[in-house]
Formats: sequence, C-alpha cells, structure tokens
Amino acid sequence: MTTIDPAPGLLRPHAEQAYAEELRALAVGDDRPRPPSWRLSPWAVVTYLLGGTSADGTVITPKYVGPRRLIEVAVATLATDRALLLLGVPGTAKTWVSEHLSAAISGSSTLLVQGTSGTAEEAIRYGWNYARLLAEGPSDAALVPSPVMTAMRTGAIARIEELTRIPSDVQDALITILSEKTLPVPELGTQVQAAKGFNVIATANDRDRGVNELSSALRRRFNTVVLPLPDDEDDEVAIVVRRVEQLGVALELPRIPAAAEEVRRVVRVFRELRSGITADGRTKLKSPSGTLSTAEAISVITNGIALSAHFGDGTLRAYDIAGAVLGSVIKDPVADRVVWTEYLEAVVRERPEWSDFYRACREITG
Ligand SMILES: Nc1ncnc2c1ncn2[C@@H]1O[C@H](COP(=O)(O)OP(=O)(O)O)[C@@H](O)[C@H]1O
Ligand SMILES: [Mg+2]
Repeated sequence: MTTIDPAPGLLRPHAEQAYAEELRALAVGDDRPRPPSWRLSPWAVVTYLLGGTSADGTVITPKYVGPRRLIEVAVATLATDRALLLLGVPGTAKTWVSEHLSAAISGSSTLLVQGTSGTAEEAIRYGWNYARLLAEGPSDAALVPSPVMTAMRTGAIARIEELTRIPSDVQDALITILSEKTLPVPELGTQVQAAKGFNVIATANDRDRGVNELSSALRRRFNTVVLPLPDDEDDEVAIVVRRVEQLGVALELPRIPAAAEEVRRVVRVFRELRSGITADGRTKLKSPSGTLSTAEAISVITNGIALSAHFGDGTLRAYDIAGAVLGSVIKDPVADRVVWTEYLEAVVRERPEWSDFYRACREITG
C-alpha cells in the first residue's frame, strides 16, 4: 500500500484537502441527482466514505469500515429536514465520519463547534466584535457569525462535536435553528434564514448520556445513527493497519514493515478485555475502566512504530508496544492493574506464540 502526502507541510490536512483528488474524481462523473448545494449525489457521498471506484476509474479509498446501511441512513438523513446525530462509545469514528461527510457534501469540514461544558450560546448563534459594537452600535459588520450561522448562510453542513457536553440551555439554541431553519438576530431586528443544503451533524458519546441528556424537543430534530465497534477482528485489524499507515505518512515516521502480526495482537488484547471473554470463548475476563477502542489501538501501534524507529531496530517488536498497551489498559492504577495482571497470567502467558509479549509486559510491570 503506498500513500502519497497530498498536503505537504501540514501536520493534519482537513479531509477535503487530503482527499481532494478523490472528491474531484467523484464529482466529475457523478450524474445522479444532487440535493440543493450538495457537491456530490448521496450515492457518491456513500462511495467516498466506504470506498469504490469513480466513473473515470479513480480508486476511492474506504474511509469508514462498517455497515453500508448505516452510512446510507446517515447520508439520506442529511438530505432531509432532520439533522444527524452520530452516537457511540469513544473511538468509533464519530468525529471521523462527521468530518468526511461534511467534506464530501459541502466541500468543507471546518464549520465546527467543539462542545464542552463551557460552550456558550455565541458559539452556536453569533457573537459581537466588541470594538466595533461600541464604536458603531450593533450592525452587520459588528456581528461575528458562529460556524452554524455561516453554514446557514451558505447552505453547508455545520458540525457540532460532543453535543451532550454542552449545557442544556445552550443546546436549546439549536431548536429554533433546526425546526424553523432560521436564526433571529433581535439586536438588528433581522434573521438569518438557512439556505438550502444547510444541515447539522452532531456527535455524542454514549457514555456521556445523562450528563446533559438531550431535551426531547431537540432529540426530535435529529435522526440518530449509532456507530458500533467493529464486530469482526479482521475488520478491526484492517482499520488499524490502514490508519497507522496514513498517520505514519503524515508524521513522516520512518517506514516500518507492516507489522500486521503486532497489530493483530494488540487488537486481540483490546477486544478480549473489552468483551470480557477470550477469543476462543473459553475464559471469562474482567474489563478495565478505559475504553479500549479501535482509535486507542491505532495510537498504541503508532507509538510503537515511533519507539521502534528511533530507539529500536526498525522492526516493530512486542517490546515496543507493551508500554503503550499497558498505558491504555491501566487507567485506574489499582483496579485496572488487577484486571491486567489476571489477563497477563491467565491468558497471555498461556499462549506460546505470545512469549515475547509476555516477557516484555512482565519487564515493564515488574
Ligand atoms: N470503523 C472504522 N472505520 C474507519 N476508521 C475507524 C473506525 N473506527 C475507528 N476508526 C479510526 O479511529 C480514529 C478515531 O476516531 P474518532 O472519530 O476520533 O472517534 P470518536 O469521535 O467516535 O471518539 C479515527 O482515526 C478513525 O480513522
Ligand atoms: Mg469524537
């Protein structure tokens, strides 16, 4: 697998930069109907996400690996008057899918509000340039639009990350926007009416539910799509291998042999601990407190590659990943350590082909 760096110099190009060539190729041959303001037809957007071939033969790499129907439902939703809520445990590619959907549909993934407990209404509606406001009074020029307002004006997709972390009274600012498709600006006696093509993709973490549970009024404005953890080990290995490869190119890490076996081992460890049972179904396990997601596995391997490249012999070895695996599993220094030690002794030790990994882990845990 070869990957060229499409945006040299940038640590992390936006999806629309990194995949500009694929998006262009898809647009050129796309003769299916496009919803107003969409750069691509819904069919081409799904192809962009899941991979395939464009009309001119350009290979479209898969961005998301998972059930086609989920992505079809997500894309179809965005062509309706309902907004899209991507829900799932951490590391299930909610942010990733949201970025790629908005890149494919609007050509831009940057109209983004990062939700936190400190997110204020201005981040969703609009704010003011205070120097101008004081000098000239309220005017169009003094108004600072939020990403959502800009998306309404331009008929684009706005993204709201971690919606449920936003205080509920601030979340409520979205209700009028999503139901009336209008954003009143009482200070100017005007309003911004959404252009066709405007919609919102929000993401929320399953585990945050209850923190600021969405009001039912707001929930009704969204179609929810739950992104699952990969249910198959081979799928998860494929996702990790692909993303590690892409990240390695972006970070300009020295090339390291694919190391698929190490990836498989990390994925197996994570899946077993996550599900509370070994892959052969024989041994019950306790699960640690942290989420051992695909995203976490990607970062463990990337870390190992950096270690191996700079301090090892240029081959990814058990020793290079053991430390990062431990760091992911042991989030709670007491309870998780017990879980890990049991796993290490009852499972890892019993697998002869894992003896290098067992030794490396023992060396680190002491
Ligand atoms: N099913 C999947 N298909 C493709 N990539 C995935 C998948 N699951 C996880 N990833 C990768 O995991 C990484 C983290 O995902 P992210 O979108 O930050 O997770 P979330 O927002 O759900 O916490 C991304 O780099 C993504 O490529
Ligand atoms: Mg996220």
